[in-house]
Amino acid sequence: MCGIVGFTGSKQALDMLLEGLGNLEYRGYDSAGVSVFCGGAIRTVKAQGRLQNLREKLACYPLEGTCGIGHTRWATHGEPSDQNAHPHTTEKLSLVHNGIIENYLELRAELSQKGYSFVSQTDTEVAAKVLDSCYDGDPAAAIRKASSLLEGAFAFGVLFADRPGEVYAIRRGSPLIVALSEEGNFITSDVTAVLRHTHRYFTLEAEEIVRLTPEGATVWGPDGGTVEKTILTASWSVEQAQKSGYPHFMLKEIYEQPEALKNTVHPRVLSGLPSFEADGIPDGFFQGFDRVQVIACGTAMHAGMVGRMVIEKLARLPVDVDIASEFRYRDPILTPRHLVVVVSQSGETADTLAALRLAKERGCPVLAIVNVAGSTIAREADHVLYTYAGPEIAVASTKAYSVQLGIFYLLGIRIALEKGRIEAGEARSLTAELLETIGKTVRCLELSPALLEIARDYQEIRSLFFIGRGFDYPLCCEGSLKLKEISYIHCEAYAAGELKHGTISLVTPGVPVVALATQTALLPKTVSNIKEVQARGARVLLICRESAAADPGVYAHRVSLPDASDLFMPLLSVIPLQLLSYHAAVLRGCDVDKPRNLAKSVTVE
Ligand code: AGP
Repeated sequence: MCGIVGFTGSKQALDMLLEGLGNLEYRGYDSAGVSVFCGGAIRTVKAQGRLQNLREKLACYPLEGTCGIGHTRWATHGEPSDQNAHPHTTEKLSLVHNGIIENYLELRAELSQKGYSFVSQTDTEVAAKVLDSCYDGDPAAAIRKASSLLEGAFAFGVLFADRPGEVYAIRRGSPLIVALSEEGNFITSDVTAVLRHTHRYFTLEAEEIVRLTPEGATVWGPDGGTVEKTILTASWSVEQAQKSGYPHFMLKEIYEQPEALKNTVHPRVLSGLPSFEADGIPDGFFQGFDRVQVIACGTAMHAGMVGRMVIEKLARLPVDVDIASEFRYRDPILTPRHLVVVVSQSGETADTLAALRLAKERGCPVLAIVNVAGSTIAREADHVLYTYAGPEIAVASTKAYSVQLGIFYLLGIRIALEKGRIEAGEARSLTAELLETIGKTVRCLELSPALLEIARDYQEIRSLFFIGRGFDYPLCCEGSLKLKEISYIHCEAYAAGELKHGTISLVTPGVPVVALATQTALLPKTVSNIKEVQARGARVLLICRESAAADPGVYAHRVSLPDASDLFMPLLSVIPLQLLSYHAAVLRGCDVDKPRNLAKSVTVE
């Protein structure tokens, strides 16, 4: 997510802003910038890359003044660049933003007709010019009017050129707090940024507007009336605050999945149908392909395994999935009618990047599903579908996986529509069910206490099996990777029907088996496989839908998921697997966010 800091008081604003932005670096970013009132005028300096680049630029442009705003940008719309960095300015104002403006294209067209021009690709510049067009000398009124025109989530920090010494802010969806100190007053995305100066803060509620002066803060509610705020005292350490109170980034990111899915999927549903027009992929693009080749590593590859089943099931288009490090060396058969889809959270994985380059050498169009804007894979692909999960800090990928699934579901429906496999009516109902299932992910998070109790059983185990059929098999692969990489428990994922062809010899009394049985059509078969392992003494954890009728005699534990169609169950079933792994790792005293031997992005082959 982007980071916002604003300050007005008795100290040099630049020092406060840079210190605060430094404390927000954990949020992930790819450019930064500041605006400061200098001699009564707003001066702005921005730089792509790390904060050090901004500091180097500022050495040439010293900004002296006691009021300003600063920003670290996690790119969503528009590559990381000086132009796209915040703040975005007009003659009247300077603005920083955290969030996504969903109707920015329409607003940009309207503003262009009013004579506005644009220098960046960002939704934020559009928001700044919407505010500019509303401003007639009353900041709060202009902000309120601009907010009524914007769709989506935002937290804005604003300086108005004719209001020196004052910082304004509003939020909807994206967090923003106000902190009060003896040296001056702050707005910030996270209390972490200013803990060295004060622990006294209050949060802005949706559509509340604040004006900061060196003396204090005035807050107006959505109706324009002033609001009295209760001052809170932050008891967190800096690190705790960066995790928003969660004990680990991984748990925070597991809980961010519903929001991440909404931010990634909803903006790509237009008139009830998947659309990638805003991503630069026109309707009809997929008609020309007769095969899809998915390439990725690790968790991203597991998402690709689900994506293959979704696309083949809906579009009847053949899909292959390859581990990137193998793909390159098997001399693959590729033609320009193959669409190569590379999947990568970081966009920097060396094996996946090398596979992308091989595909391009063979003349294949490459579509990348990436979470980090401006990453190498994003820049080298022909087309990019960004996921909007926000920065994923924990080494174990969770929310990035879920949003990759979200993109694959949209792709499957879109391709099926363009290939004439389904009519618009069925595509709309599938899309509606996708959005409905995303809404059910929140309920899956409530299973955490149950998974904690089950994980207590796994403290001394030496091996474990995940078994499943159909969509449940790639989910078992993901669950197995999660458990291995953070709890160091050796485990294997097996297609439930395959276990009896050898591996069942390892199932001895007391061996835990996690049986994923969410596929209604395959439930009887999976139950048979469960009975096979149970007959050999396995302790079974059954993960199934709440409507499934399963004999309590076949499992030691049962975790029930909200009902959804077989096709969309992966969005729900991955959550208990993530939570099981998380709790097992914590109980075993493992370093959950930074497991041994692992890196967040594997940039070596
Ligand atoms: C997943 O939990 C692992 N950290 C790892 O398998 C990861 O998914 C893999 O390295 C691919 O990373 P990428 O998505 O950034 O390309």
